[in-house]
Amino acid sequence: MVEYRRVTDSFLNALESIAGKSHVLTARDDMAAYSGDEACRAAGPLRSEPEVVVRPADASEVARVLALASDALVPVTPRGGGTGLSGGAVPARGGVVLSLDRMARIKEVDERNFVAVVEPGVLLKDLQQAVEARGLCYPLYPGEKTAHVGGNVATNAGGMRAMKYGATKAWVLGLELALPTGDLIRTGGKLVKCSTGYNITGLVAGSEGTLAVVTEATLRLTTPPLYEEAFLVPFSTLEQAIGAVPDLIKERVPLAGLEFLEKDALRLMEAHLGREMPMRQHEAFLLGIIEGGSQDDVLAAANRASEVCATHGSSDIYVAGSAKARRELLEARASLFHAVKRSGLIEIADVVVPPSRIAEFIGKVKEISRRHGLPVLAYGHAGDGNVHLHPMGQGMDEGEWEQRLPGVMEEMYRAGASLGGTVSGEHGLGSEKKKYLRLAVPPEQIELMKRIKTAFDPKGILNPGKVFD
Ligand code: LAC
Ligand code: ZN
Repeated sequence: MVEYRRVTDSFLNALESIAGKSHVLTARDDMAAYSGDEACRAAGPLRSEPEVVVRPADASEVARVLALASDALVPVTPRGGGTGLSGGAVPARGGVVLSLDRMARIKEVDERNFVAVVEPGVLLKDLQQAVEARGLCYPLYPGEKTAHVGGNVATNAGGMRAMKYGATKAWVLGLELALPTGDLIRTGGKLVKCSTGYNITGLVAGSEGTLAVVTEATLRLTTPPLYEEAFLVPFSTLEQAIGAVPDLIKERVPLAGLEFLEKDALRLMEAHLGREMPMRQHEAFLLGIIEGGSQDDVLAAANRASEVCATHGSSDIYVAGSAKARRELLEARASLFHAVKRSGLIEIADVVVPPSRIAEFIGKVKEISRRHGLPVLAYGHAGDGNVHLHPMGQGMDEGEWEQRLPGVMEEMYRAGASLGGTVSGEHGLGSEKKKYLRLAVPPEQIELMKRIKTAFDPKGILNPGKVFD
């Protein structure tokens, strides 16, 4: 393990001369907002205090901060909106939190090349608004719209439309990167294709701030669908619901996203939002997002979805039918994590399996849950195989929770891997899920990852304690 040095007065002075005194925070109260993310632990939110927070204004300041920290052997944890779920932005080893919140400029929306060039601290919702105002679309829908684009790149965020559009990585055409050594490089660009050497863009996207700091991203844009519709189809069992997924695709229902959930999740949403959900008396649901060229198109597609689901035992469908109802349905789903989080002791996994094996996987999870006497709520992205699993510890004291949880988590990850799946589909490993990497990735591959880490970050100053030790 690297022996990091503590932040000294001369280090602080040097930081102030880079970023300006008012953008270097050392008071505990000022730093409090930079010490945690959305990851959960029994004892409360995951937190670790940095020694200093620096808020650089541009790429050259970021590079200078990294050069300084590299010389001084002080760890640096890059930070976006703090909405991550795996502890990736938490300064596990103290040192510097490098907050990208001041770098929030949308530098360009290029309508002829269909790209946006943005700084990492741009909020996803601001990017989407800016491109929509120009008649374009950045279609990803991870749910958390206050996430920073840089954080989305760092975790390769996926979300509800990944079924059609893929995850963030598929939309990153180029990056400007500050390396831990203090160099600034550019990868890719406004280029649809690139077969020029190694794909550093693709390597850094999803590397959770362990290889380099993203100081600018060139993102692909598309045109928005002419019409969108959302529906909810109820089933008597989750197996029936999930069984309908391949047929919906085969029957050419033009889905951008397809989610599954159960009654318990619907109840939590209702309690969180203070309103009743449609079809609430049923046991299990598919929630679909349809895109089409006309209103008739999307309604015909919803009918087709209903017919396909009828062959899997469903006898009803709720079609949102208005912009407001659509928004309410999708926002209810997007709020689900927060609805669950309110309910007490929870943990979240985001195992991804081949989509055809979701039902089998959930069957195994339920068996594990029963055997350990720990309820596990399952919901997620049926269209792309990314399953969220929430062990739920209501009524348990912390001791019991701590005792039961690890076995359940480990067995669920093993079950996912045994079906050809892997640990995380979209949240990343951070500090909280890194111990499970070995369950899905062989040792020689983890060694290769470590050699890549060393090539980018020879002194190991960037985001230590994340992804692997
Ligand atoms: C979701 C987040 C938790 O799908 O990934 O709601
Ligand atoms: Zn998700």
